[in-house]
Amino acid sequence: MENNQTNEKLLAEIERLKKELKKKKKYGLVWEDKPEDVVEMCKEKLPVLKEVKSKEIITDKNKPVNLLIEGDNYHALSVLNYTHKGKIDVIYIDPPYNTGAKDWKYNNDYVDGEDAYRHSKWISLMHNRLKIAKNLLKQDGVLICAIDENEQAHLGVLLEGLFANYEIHLVTIVHNPRGVQGKNFSYVHEYAYFLFKKGLAVIGSKQRDEVLEEELRDHGGESLRTDAKNCFYPIFVKNNQIVGFGDVPKQGFHPKSKNVYIKNKTIEVWPIDVKGIERKWVFARNTVEGIKDKLFIIDKKNGDIDVFRIKDTQKPRTVWTGQKYDASTFGSKIVNALTEVLFPFPKSLYNTKDCLELVIKERKNAVVLDYFAGSGTTGHAVLELNQDGGNRKFILCTNNENGIAEKVCYPRVKKVINGYKNAKGEKVAGLGGNLKYYKTDFVDYKESTDKNKIRLTEEAIEMLCVKEGTFEEVENRVGFKIFKNSEHYAGIIFDQLAIKDFKKSIKDIKGKVSVYIFSLGDDSFEDEFEDVKRKVKLSPIPEAILKVYRRIFK
Ligand SMILES: C[S@@+](CC[C@H](N)C(=O)[O-])C[C@H]1O[C@@H](n2cnc3c(N)ncnc32)[C@H](O)[C@@H]1O
Repeated sequence: MENNQTNEKLLAEIERLKKELKKKKKYGLVWEDKPEDVVEMCKEKLPVLKEVKSKEIITDKNKPVNLLIEGDNYHALSVLNYTHKGKIDVIYIDPPYNTGAKDWKYNNDYVDGEDAYRHSKWISLMHNRLKIAKNLLKQDGVLICAIDENEQAHLGVLLEGLFANYEIHLVTIVHNPRGVQGKNFSYVHEYAYFLFKKGLAVIGSKQRDEVLEEELRDHGGESLRTDAKNCFYPIFVKNNQIVGFGDVPKQGFHPKSKNVYIKNKTIEVWPIDVKGIERKWVFARNTVEGIKDKLFIIDKKNGDIDVFRIKDTQKPRTVWTGQKYDASTFGSKIVNALTEVLFPFPKSLYNTKDCLELVIKERKNAVVLDYFAGSGTTGHAVLELNQDGGNRKFILCTNNENGIAEKVCYPRVKKVINGYKNAKGEKVAGLGGNLKYYKTDFVDYKESTDKNKIRLTEEAIEMLCVKEGTFEEVENRVGFKIFKNSEHYAGIIFDQLAIKDFKKSIKDIKGKVSVYIFSLGDDSFEDEFEDVKRKVKLSPIPEAILKVYRRIFK
């Protein structure tokens, strides 16, 4: 009898252990997840933003406002989960590389090479942030993460686990051509991971080092007219110039020859080879006009005129070399010339700029986030990219370790925006732009009491303005405030009794008004806005914020 009972107990224990084993991860990264103080504190204190008004830089009111957020990036990313969900085109990060040389802190302690948990701590840091940063990317958004040999392999597996439906590409960049002398190899390179949703074509072309000239006629595998009928059309040439493009002819039509002389001394050039076989141009009829300025003609020895193209760009290769990626010349030297405090290992400006340009060259209103901003190279790169007339915006987040935010990142961005005198006393023109400086702050929120909800609402004003991009205060009344930018208005109502006056204030405003209305629950008082329902977009606060925080801090 006793034996039977022992057996039953043993079998139950085996079953329990089998279930436990099933729950364990079978493939992927496993690490010791030591709780992080900055994450734990969010269970009792909720992050908000507080502006440092004295650090505001405005050079053109009609241009977008860039943001610099000082604080731990876990808190900054939490706020951005409310203000910028699905709004970011590119997240570019250059985290500490975990070299063992005390290059970063975990729970306020520097992590050195002797720390047995150094990889686990680094993975926790990255995991906690990437998990919530992912929510910020647009559908066609791209994550770019710089890394070196210390954590590249771990990061790759971590990214695979977190970004399941994403393509992951790895680029090698020679950033230190002189090399770092190790016991065995001399390291000259680092990496950049590029991630985006599977199937997207979001990576643009890169300038070629050597320009090529090639026939416009296709010489590849499938180069016949029948392989792509929209690539078979005449190109009009007059006085040795390309003057236009004809329509794609109907299927049965055959041109008389490669060059057909038509009226007004105009020649039609067709993609027909020396044997008279109908082939195709490299570009379809609907795209060829876009590259017209890259086309030219050549008189061939046999008397024919042919069309050639200049190939000055190509899809980026996976190994990048070139002096411009040298972190010493185009990173440290640039930063040292702009700030008084030395900053270790900034990126080459052109390393970051080229990474970004591949994605946002054509996205003139792109929003770029860097939550390990350091000396602010990403902000500098975005300001340079905007010299094409673009209105791209950046959001930089950095802690203020050794004064990095206040003494390096901010002065650098300020000088790049406003202009400055270099070491030789020469004037360097400013690139223009606007910046607002925020610090992360906290609201005690151990429990969901009415008092805490009121406090959170009062402290969330700046966060709401950041969400709406409306920074100019137009009304400040007891029960409500109204802000605007050049495109729209946003109102914050603290007291339901102020709804009547608020509606009077927005009576003459054209366009939609985003209205945040205080509510102890999730009531947005639609009935009271019935008469202006087309004009307002209502959100109950703090519930809208709490919903986001409940999700990420659960
Ligand atoms: C490798 S550096 C970035 C360098 C930057 N790309 C540049 O070119 O200047 C990483 C930066 O992240 C900052 N940092 C590290 N941990 C952070 C955290 N938890 N929150 C905010 N910033 C952090 C460090 O202060 C450091 O300046």
